[in-house]
Parts: sequence; C-alpha cells; structure tokens
Amino acid sequence: MSQKTKAKECTENTIKIAISGIGNCASALLQGLAYYRKIKPGFVPGLMHPTICGYHIFDIKLVAAFDVDKRKVGKDASLAIFAKPNNTTRFCKKMPKTGVIVQMGPVLDGVSELMKTYPDDRTFLPSEQESVDVVRVLKETGAQILINYMPVGSKEATAFYAQSALDANVAFINAMPEFICSDKTWAKKFENAGIPCLGDDVKSQLGATIIHRALAHLFSQRGISCENSYQLNVGGNTDFANMKAAERLKSKQVSKTESVESQLLKRLSYDNLHVGPADYIPFLGDNKEAFIHMLGTGFGENQIKIFTRLEVTDSPNSAGVIIDAIRLVRVALDRKMKGPLLECSAFLMKHPLIQMTDDEAYEGVEKFIRGDHKWITVFPSRTSDLSQSGEFYSEIFSEICKKLEYLAKKNNATFWNNSVSEKYCNEDEYLLKLKEVVLSEENKKENTLFVSFCYINKMKQMEKILKEFSGNIVAVNSPSPENIKLPILTYLGPDDVKIGELLAIEALKHKKASSKIYILEHKENYYPFALREKGIKSLIPQAIIVSLFEGIPEINKEDIVISFGNRSTEALIDANIKATIIAIDENKKVKKETNVTCLDQEVSEYVNKIGRMQIATS
Ligand SMILES: NC(=O)c1ccc[n+]([C@@H]2O[C@H](COP(=O)([O-])OP(=O)(O)OC[C@H]3O[C@@H](n4cnc5c(N)ncnc54)[C@H](O)[C@@H]3O)[C@@H](O)[C@H]2O)c1
Repeated sequence: MSQKTKAKECTENTIKIAISGIGNCASALLQGLAYYRKIKPGFVPGLMHPTICGYHIFDIKLVAAFDVDKRKVGKDASLAIFAKPNNTTRFCKKMPKTGVIVQMGPVLDGVSELMKTYPDDRTFLPSEQESVDVVRVLKETGAQILINYMPVGSKEATAFYAQSALDANVAFINAMPEFICSDKTWAKKFENAGIPCLGDDVKSQLGATIIHRALAHLFSQRGISCENSYQLNVGGNTDFANMKAAERLKSKQVSKTESVESQLLKRLSYDNLHVGPADYIPFLGDNKEAFIHMLGTGFGENQIKIFTRLEVTDSPNSAGVIIDAIRLVRVALDRKMKGPLLECSAFLMKHPLIQMTDDEAYEGVEKFIRGDHKWITVFPSRTSDLSQSGEFYSEIFSEICKKLEYLAKKNNATFWNNSVSEKYCNEDEYLLKLKEVVLSEENKKENTLFVSFCYINKMKQMEKILKEFSGNIVAVNSPSPENIKLPILTYLGPDDVKIGELLAIEALKHKKASSKIYILEHKENYYPFALREKGIKSLIPQAIIVSLFEGIPEINKEDIVISFGNRSTEALIDANIKATIIAIDENKKVKKETNVTCLDQEVSEYVNKIGRMQIATS
C-alpha cells in the first residue's frame, strides 16, 4: 500500500484500536465495523448511536490484534475471526481484509485446565510461538485504545493487558469480568497516567442483565418488594464452555449479581438471589438463552411473579455496546480525561466503579456526548471568506478557525463564527459587531472567545467592550500580547518578532553604504506592527519608521523600505518610489515591479508552521 493511500485512510478522526482476544466478541465487533461502514446519518437499526461527537463507525480502525490460538495467530484478523473455536454468526458477508495480522500474546492464565479437556474445535489451542512485545506493538501501531476480551477468570492475562495499556499510554476498555476500571487501585493507576478507561464486563445491548435490571428497577419504582430472583443463562460458545470451571467464575458471578442487586430496594440474601451462567450446551452455538424469575410482594402482601425468557445471539449483542464504548473513550481522549469514565461505564458495563440506575447512566452518557455547556466563538476581524484572502493574517485566522471548528465538533461545543458580512470591514463595523457578540445570549454560556486585536488604534474601545465578556478570551494575532489590558487566557498567532527579523535579514542583503532603511506604517495596521518593528530593530536599530498617515515620505533610490501589506506597497508604487521594497506578500500589481522583493514564500512557511504549532499546543 502506498504512503499516499495510507495517509488517506487515516484522518484526524481515525480511532485506532487494538484488541486482545480474537474470540466471538471480537469477531462480532470487527464484522460490525465492516457491516456498518456505509451507514447514513439518522436512525440505524441495531445501533444506539450512529455517530458520537462526530465520530462515525467507519472512523474505527483496527491497528493491532493479539491472541494465543495457533489457528488465529499469524492470520489477518478478518480471517482469524472465523477460525475455530469461534462460532458466532457471520452477518457481514463480505469481510474485507484488515491488514492487521494477529500477533502472539503471552498465554498466562488465559487457557484453563478445563478448556484443555474439550474437543479441539470447541477449545483454545495455544500456539508454541513466543509472545511479541505487546507494549512495543501498541506504541508502534499508534493504537489509542486497547479492548480486552480475555476469557472469564483470566486474572493475570487481564492485568498484563491493562498494564501494557498503561505502559504504552493507551486507553483501556475492559469488556470482561476481571476488575480493573472498577478497582480503586487500577483506577488510580489510569488516573495517574492521565489515561481514560471504561469497564468492567460489557453489559449487552439488550441482554439478560439489562432486562433483569429493568425489572428490578421497576419493582423498586412501583413499591414492590423483591423476595427472590434468579437469572439462568445457557449457551454453546467458548465463553460458556470456559465458565464451566467454577473457580474461574467468581468475578463473573459478582459482576452479574451486583449489577441486578444495585437496582433493588433492599439487598437480597445469597440464598434468595442467584444470577449467572447455568450450563454449556454445545448445540446452542453462539445463541444464548436466559431465564429470569422474580417474585415480589405487592399491595396487601399479594404476590407478583414474573418469568421471562430471552433468546439472543450472544456476541453481536456485546459488539453493539463496544462500538459506542470505543467512540466515547476517544471523545474522552480528545477532552484529555483520565481514569474511569463513570457514567459511560455505568451505562455500558455490568461492573462499573459506581453503579447507577440505567436512566441516570443513560442521561449521564447523553450529557457527556452533548458536552452541554461549551461554546467556542470566533471573531475574525476583516474578511467574510477567510481562506480566499492572500493576507497572512487571514490565513492564520482561517487555519485557527478550521482547527477550532474541528475541536468544537469533537467536544460537542457550539462553534459560532462571526465573520463580518463584507470582505473588508471597517473599524466601526468591527466594534459594533464585537459588542453584539459580547452582549449576546450565547455569551451567558460557558464560552471561549477567539478575538483578533487588529485595530491597534481602537484598543481602548475594544478593551471596554471586552470587559463585559464573562468567558475566556483568547487573543489571536494581537499587536502585542503584553499590550492588552485584559485577562487573556492565551495568545495564538505567529511569532511576529521573528517575521520582523526575516524582513531585516533580507533588507541587509540589499543595503549599500548610503542606504537608509525605512519601516512603512500604514493606516490599515491589521498586522501586529509593534512586534514586527521590534524584530527589525533587533537587527537594524537605525531603521526609521515612516508613516503613510502623513503621506508618502521622501525616499531615495538606494534606500530600502520594508512594507507589511499590499496596500502600503501599492501606495509606494503609485508614488513612483524607486527604492528597494521588501514586502511580506504581493498581488498582481506588486508582482510586476522589479524593485519589490517579496518574502511571501519564506514568511508563509514560517507563519503557517508557527500558526499550526501554537494551535496544537494551546
Ligand atoms: N455478550 C457477550 O458475548 C459478552 C458479554 C459480557 C462479557 N463478555 C466477556 O467477554 C470476554 C470475551 O468473550 P468471547 O465470547 O469473545 O470469548 P471467546 O472465548 O470467544 O474468546 C476469547 C479469546 O481470547 C483468546 N485468549 C485466551 N488467552 C489469551 C491471552 N493470554 N492473550 C490473548 N488472547 C487470549 C482465545 O484464544 C480466544 O480467541 C469473555 O470474558 C466474556 O465473558 C462477553
């Protein structure tokens, strides 16, 4: 694959995932990624959220996969997911190659003694290969999130993958019932490392747990006392085969039982609540059947009995949840969140750090997705179509706007672009519009305003207006950050002192013994004149400022004039000034003149690089 194609495949939105355990759940997830690749916005059967904060399903990309089974290791993940003993349904008829080869992980306690007693096509067959360096693979592939699908009871293996995620600085989703994200010690480790995690033990999209919880919650809400209850699950996949080993089942039992118990008015004794896998029935394959019984005491101590039977394909039912978990974790990464994601874990997992009702957790997740409160407002100074302008200043703002729009989308913040209506707006129009923005309803919300301080002669008025602003102010390309007498969150823009230096270096190349060097000030000082002047004077202290406010000054042929904008350069041309002109940018008219040297290319590269760098670090 060419580099070009690769670059096209990965965008800023790409969510790079790694998976440990290419069993039935991984099969359903990877099939789902291919199956839903071309979905359109709106309601899509089978999905809770077609998009989350602008992330589509097609943004999720597998970059690394680990397993230990010799029928899977060494194969492209698209083939490994259909290798024995996997037996889930094949709902994606044309499974494309992932380009990711399943790599050998350390076996540890992933394969139980009991599993060794089953026939080959119903059990794990560990490969003899050496384990790869999981941390190195995670780092090299640029994985952002590791999803752990170890078999139930794999305490050591799960701890190994959780630690690998920490060591590789990768977020972690624990889909199985070993307690990582719900364990305070592990949770702290993720928090300290600045990495988000989501777990533990995925709650299927519409499975036995959520139905049992809903019934338990209904009992509580309607004042019915639950006297006893059981949930028995049977199935024929390796998950059920593995869970026949009673000693490996402890955490699964705790996870499932607590998930239901947390919804009841009063805790039931061990004798009166039984939740868990009941048996392994090979002919059921990946179909699971759940039987839920509840006995309650209602009004006048009369009995209420409920008996529910659920039939479901087990593994796709979990993939529909993980597909949301992945995007929520990516949003958390974008927002630089760390540690367990509480609401998301409570909604999507059976054993979160903090249990909530499903309604509370659902609301929490929706609020998390909405981002609810954030606004980003940009207030460009002069052009309605920023990208069309040749001015560096506009290019920088245009770049900042694009980046902010992207960030706003990621954070579900509202992006409010207040471009002025005309291509060039005058100072009064600018101040009026700024006042409008500052006094607007939106300003009452948590808001960050990106504003340019371009009209240095109107600084006082701007400061007066902006004093009314209650949110954060980010100064974009201001005349000089230290000149702004307002609390400024940060300053974005190129290093104009450096640009001044670049101009000075060019001017010195043209300098003759008798040359005088002028810096031309123009009334349209949209650029940070003071900073550029500082840069020039650091190399040419004798440079003289001449102002176009006072008309064209007397300049000789051997002199050099540094001009910051096309309007200034044009004014010099119109006045038939034959001196060497060092300009920052040029237009058609300027280009024709032989005495103008334009640093367009040099400055542009520098400006763009700086502009980008400063946005990225802010
Ligand atoms: N609806 C659901 O299917 C559901 C719901 C909740 C939780 N879970 C949990 O998710 C986990 C995965 O379920 P599954 O159905 O995919 O199981 P599975 O048995 O189909 O797959 C487990 C995979 O892990 C591999 N493995 C074993 N040890 C390993 C190691 N040390 N390193 C790397 N790979 C190793 C196996 O070879 C196998 O491919 C289970 O713990 C299950 O209880 C599943």
